[in-house]
Amino acid sequence: MKHSEILGIDIGATGIKGAPVDIMKGELTAGRYKLDTPASGKPKDVVKVVAELVDKFGWTGPVGFGFPGVIQHGVAKTSANLDNDFIGVNLRDLFHETLGLPTYVANDADVAGMAEIAHGRGRGVMATVLMITIGTGLGSALFRDGVLIPNTEFGHLLYKKSVFEHYASNRARKEKKMSWLEWGRQFTIYLNHLNLLLSPDLFILGGGISKKFDLWKTHIKVPVPITDAMLRNDAGIIGAAMYAASKIPASL
Ligand code: BGC
Repeated sequence: MKHSEILGIDIGATGIKGAPVDIMKGELTAGRYKLDTPASGKPKDVVKVVAELVDKFGWTGPVGFGFPGVIQHGVAKTSANLDNDFIGVNLRDLFHETLGLPTYVANDADVAGMAEIAHGRGRGVMATVLMITIGTGLGSALFRDGVLIPNTEFGHLLYKKSVFEHYASNRARKEKKMSWLEWGRQFTIYLNHLNLLLSPDLFILGGGISKKFDLWKTHIKVPVPITDAMLRNDAGIIGAAMYAASKIPASL
């Protein structure tokens, strides 16, 4: 492969972080930068921060992005935790025009899952693996024998008067000042619901909260093995770069 190093950028509701990634090893090759997501959450402001991040690395090669919404053929179809102005925007084109570099965009949880499947806890697991990223939202990435079914959006399954994301995300835990036990109960209901629907063989639990897995794992009661994401919160950056690597045409 011509591009052994690709810049991965993980766009989140609170932070936009990035780093160059060694695609074969699935490792960051330099320290990551994190900039605040602009309060407006609007495309015109987000692209400015993205450009600043790319500049910090003096990057001139391909860039892969994870975005917190449904992405089909480069176009954002939803935007639950950023501004609705993103809906209908071709992000691949927007980033390409702004940066003047080859750009590739996919859902943030899907790419984080790709990284865990290739280099983390899902490596070599020939079964149904469901990665859940726990942050401002609840992201999902479903794999069967290592193959991704993209844009599953299981954080938006209906629950009570809303969706699970509003009860079991890390944002819900913080906003409702839940103890680990209280949040664990909510998250247990969520994982059991997913188990009922999908019968996964393994749950991989990622997002920033995975760093604290030891504090909450005992509160999760589900009859399926659970594990924390080995690549922690870098899975999104690594996966974004891996996604780009998988899409770069041979001629580039
Ligand atoms: C979005 C998903 C995203 C998840 C994690 C949800 O609100 O709808 O697309 O993967 O948050 O960022």
